Amino acid sequence: MLSTKATVKLCSPKLAALLSRSLTPLLQQSTLAYAGLRPFGPQQSITVRHFSSSPAPHLKDWFPRKETEHIRQTLPTWQHHGYTEQEMLSVVPEHRPVKTWGDWAAYKFVKLCRWGMDFSTGLRDIPVVDKATGKTVMVPRILNESQWLIRFIFLESIAGVPGMVAGMLRHLHSLRKLKRDNGWIETLLEESYNERLHLLTFMRLCEPGWFMKTMILAAQGVYFNALFVSYLISPKITHRFVGYLEEEAVHTYTTAIEQIEAGHLEKWSSQDFQAPDIAINYWKMPEGKRTMKDLLLYIRADEACHRGVNHTLSNLNTDEDPNPFVSEYKGDRQPPKALDKAQGYERTEVM
Ligand SMILES: [Fe+2]
Ligand SMILES: [Fe+2]
Repeated sequence: MLSTKATVKLCSPKLAALLSRSLTPLLQQSTLAYAGLRPFGPQQSITVRHFSSSPAPHLKDWFPRKETEHIRQTLPTWQHHGYTEQEMLSVVPEHRPVKTWGDWAAYKFVKLCRWGMDFSTGLRDIPVVDKATGKTVMVPRILNESQWLIRFIFLESIAGVPGMVAGMLRHLHSLRKLKRDNGWIETLLEESYNERLHLLTFMRLCEPGWFMKTMILAAQGVYFNALFVSYLISPKITHRFVGYLEEEAVHTYTTAIEQIEAGHLEKWSSQDFQAPDIAINYWKMPEGKRTMKDLLLYIRADEACHRGVNHTLSNLNTDEDPNPFVSEYKGDRQPPKALDKAQGYERTEVM
């Protein structure tokens, strides 16, 4: 999700310092702007901003529905497969141990990306004295709602890139080599679609200002091209890189959920909070299960799926092997479930 070059640029101390300085006043303003996080209907204009440097008169609905003479509504091609509550609650941060030099390179780069994002958005471990034991322990710093949204929006804006790049390259490979792809393309494109829905959901909660938009534009330009080259050189290492990045995404959403559960995020802890319509429709969130915590549980489960899928794909022969997640198995055997296997399936388990 984050490319080598994109992250190097994003993580440079100079840029991180600029980001930090620019966001600080916006974060302070945004705290005052929390008149309530509520979904915006398709025809409503956005009147509440949680952070933005854009002048108020320029506010607009980011994705208003296009009214035409004959079309009632446009349904998404990819329906979400859904989760049970138990599946979502069982997701935990996990790590696939490094086994090859490619794993090592991918993991080190992801950790560099993580450090840069933590530095830029202020999410870092701080020492706290545990009242029960009297010992000092390191715990994640508490961010407010605006700070979390900044992090979510930036990350999700680039999270949708790898699946699209990989799917596109495999599509072109199939065309020019006159070969079947064996089911990888659809899964990869669906992953990028899913990530884009994460972004659109968060966009319903706030509007980024010009600085954030510029950062997103720059990051996408560098990231897309770096991933393009990376996937051409080594699909295995690129999938491993995405797998490790998804591990970090699960970690990040878990921290946010824990802060909501601990009552640190007042607006998001409120039972009055209602997930945006776009999220309710996409995940088919049941009545009574539409709080911010519920929403983050769905998104974290999606990231856990991406984690399992990408680690598994990295373990396969990327040229020849079929995609196990969309395959029908012989006998009574069921296809693997990415959510159940944080470290991914080994090739011998699924081929
Ligand atoms: Fe995501
Ligand atoms: Fe993801």
